[in-house]
Amino acid sequence: MKKKKQIFILCILTAINITFPYILKLPECNKYDAIFSKIKYNQRLIGDFITFLQSISLRQCLTKCMWHDTCQSVNHFRGNNSCELLASSVQRNRTGNAVLVSDRGWNHFETDFNIITLGPWCTANNPCQPNERCKDVCFGTHKCVSFTTESLRDYIETASQSSDHNTGEFPAIKAFDGNNDVYSHTARSPTPHWIKATFKQRVFINYVIFVNRLPIISSPYDQRNDNMRLETILHDGGQSRVTVFGNTGILGTQKNISCMQYADEFQAFQPLEFSTDYNNIGEIWIYGRVVFTF
Ligand SMILES: *[C@@H]1O[C@H](CO)[C@@H](O)[C@H](O)[C@H]1NC(C)=O
Ligand SMILES: *[C@@H]1O[C@H](CO)[C@@H](O)[C@H](O)[C@H]1NC(C)=O
Ligand SMILES: *[C@@H]1O[C@H](CO)[C@@H](O)[C@H](O)[C@H]1NC(C)=O
Repeated sequence: MKKKKQIFILCILTAINITFPYILKLPECNKYDAIFSKIKYNQRLIGDFITFLQSISLRQCLTKCMWHDTCQSVNHFRGNNSCELLASSVQRNRTGNAVLVSDRGWNHFETDFNIITLGPWCTANNPCQPNERCKDVCFGTHKCVSFTTESLRDYIETASQSSDHNTGEFPAIKAFDGNNDVYSHTARSPTPHWIKATFKQRVFINYVIFVNRLPIISSPYDQRNDNMRLETILHDGGQSRVTVFGNTGILGTQKNISCMQYADEFQAFQPLEFSTDYNNIGEIWIYGRVVFTF
């Protein structure tokens, strides 16, 4: 009876477009779930504390939050599997009590409140492709729907390249800074040239847009990033697995190259026979999504 009433209230509020504070519970014929896709690394949200849970995996911690009446976000400490449930979130700082503080080892998770996802059936089964997510439905069991991709720039932890230009002004991160007009720049040697981005956590890359140093018209540097092999790198159980998914070929101004691979790192590698000048990259836009490793 109580549950029915809550759902009814939620429907009315949604209809008149008022945000409901506990929207984490997404009713669809009593199948609930949510994606915790807003992550703040080495940060902890303080305020509107609900409870502390020990020896609990991240997945269990998120599940506890989801089934809790008022939980909106969690802090998880991976080192000893500690979990804190909170009635506030960064996005829905309703009481004004929420303060985000730096705290090494703690990560803060909350939902992207626009994404409605999984339910119990999909949690137990996953028949969908890696670029799709499973969604419980009221009639039948599930539906596979495409993920929306986002720029993975905010999930890059570090960037490095085979060498830095001697001015020191063009580090690798300039190829991942969200600006086509500033570029990374290696020295001429050592060769072969390469550039790499390491993600904060595992991602799925749908595609990469590789932008040359601009403008290239009649420029002496327009071939500097040609014939670069594009790779994803996964680290599992002390082993690294490299997958080649594309090549810049004759790059021109820019190319959009499909990837459809999981990655812990992204690398562009220019074989020795092509590493005859500098590497000089305007931007490498990486689009995909974050993958949770529970
Ligand atoms: C786990 O570590 C965190 C951070 O150091 C600490 O606050 C918490 O009390 C620890 N939990 C246990 C059960 O020791
Ligand atoms: C929450 O709101 C209070 C009051 O407006 C503000 O001081 C605080 O910074 C906010 N917290 C976050 C995480 O945005
Ligand atoms: C790049 O290609 C993907 C498909 O592989 C497409 O979804 C995306 O919109 C393209 N982006 C641009 C900027 O061309």
